[in-house]
Amino acid sequence: MSLNEFEKAAEIIRNAKYAVAFTGAGISVDSGIPSFRGEDGVWNTHHPIYLEIEFFQKKPLQSWIKLKEIFYDNLSDALPNIAHEILAKMEQRGFVESIITQNIDNLHQKAGSKYVYELHGNYKQLICTECSSEYDISFADLNFLPPTCYVCKGILKPNIVFFNEPIPQFAKTRSFAEVNKADVMLIVGTNAEVLPAADLPVVAKENGAKIIEINIKKSHLTNTVSDIFLKGKATEVLTTIGELLYL
Ligand code: APR
Repeated sequence: MSLNEFEKAAEIIRNAKYAVAFTGAGISVDSGIPSFRGEDGVWNTHHPIYLEIEFFQKKPLQSWIKLKEIFYDNLSDALPNIAHEILAKMEQRGFVESIITQNIDNLHQKAGSKYVYELHGNYKQLICTECSSEYDISFADLNFLPPTCYVCKGILKPNIVFFNEPIPQFAKTRSFAEVNKADVMLIVGTNAEVLPAADLPVVAKENGAKIIEINIKKSHLTNTVSDIFLKGKATEVLTTIGELLYL
């Protein structure tokens, strides 16, 4: 891939009226957070059942033990990487309007992005399964599982979207509204396999948006939806894009 693919992408971003970013686990790999699929993906070492809502409702303790191992032990001290920081700078400079993310790691916010729509929730929030009271993760001592509600003693659940759970209405409505306004979508580090998140790039394309995809390998979007495919790690590709935009 020649530099001119990067220059083409930078030109598209420069001339965009309303560019949005759509991110997945791949953008956080260089922050030490494993992605879900691929060689060392989470689902190769842990059964996805622990993230199924029915399993959580039946066996909250077993689910929490695994969730702590998969997410909380990994995420608590993870820091944003240069890819998150470049997207935040692109928002500050008006090149990107918002970020729609499938990630629950809070790293876009930590990097300074303001308009972040979290399709799959955020690991830092807990919600009571009985009275829906919400807590920051700092309220819970994860050495004593499952955490319980201060108000009604109900079991607390991470405020993330489990398999077979609906996407939070606000995030879904806002994300589709953003996509309907977008004339450019920057897709970073996602297999785009999980619905309804995976519909967003297709809707953007159908609306005539230019799609720039950044990934270490082709996804099913590459030959169907993407106009430009920038092969490489998000940190490296976005560093080059940042230089071309004089961030
Ligand atoms: N830079 C860019 N892309 C990368 C990098 C990297 N350093 N490392 C991996 N990738 C790409 C992989 O090639 C893959 O396409 O990131 C993608 C990660 O795919 P998944 O692990 O499937 O993550 P994601 O697409 O975000 O999964 C969506 O599935 O399990 C659910 O709720 C979970 O939000 C998650 C959803």
